Amino acid sequence: MQLTINGTEHALDIDPRTTLLDALREHLALTGSKKGCDHGQCGACTVLVNGRRINSCLSLAVMHEGDEITTIEGLGTPDHLHPMQESFVHHDGYQCGYCTPGQIVSAVGMLGEARDNWPSAVTESLEGGSELTDAEISERMSGNICRCSAYPNIVRAIRGAEG
Ligand code: FES
Repeated sequence: MQLTINGTEHALDIDPRTTLLDALREHLALTGSKKGCDHGQCGACTVLVNGRRINSCLSLAVMHEGDEITTIEGLGTPDHLHPMQESFVHHDGYQCGYCTPGQIVSAVGMLGEARDNWPSAVTESLEGGSELTDAEISERMSGNICRCSAYPNIVRAIRGAEG
């Protein structure tokens, strides 16, 4: 099968029962997406498919031929962080960090969904603001669990990335 991940096409010869998460982590060495629960309950495995958030542990890789898949590795580089990554650093939007890639990918997708502009939200500036309240941000991010309970700073980070 062919998967397009972070703008690069990858040819994979894998069991069709392989989840997208396992394809990323075990066959493509893209380990930024984490396996927390493997049951769609924690959000650590969140990736964007055509700009929309999904739990990659619940989706088979073979279902995503022809899709644009974006992982945390596709959002920024160590020298040029994505604005959402910068804001998480600035606002201490994490403690142990295990859930952070999923939180950041989910936040980028969430703001895009909030603006009805989710495909371009992956790569474009986050300027403009979604005008979501903190409670609305929390509700829309409720699929991403943080066991350290860094939620207040996660909301501040998302708010701070809105520009
Ligand atoms: Fe996919 Fe927890 S690992 S939701």
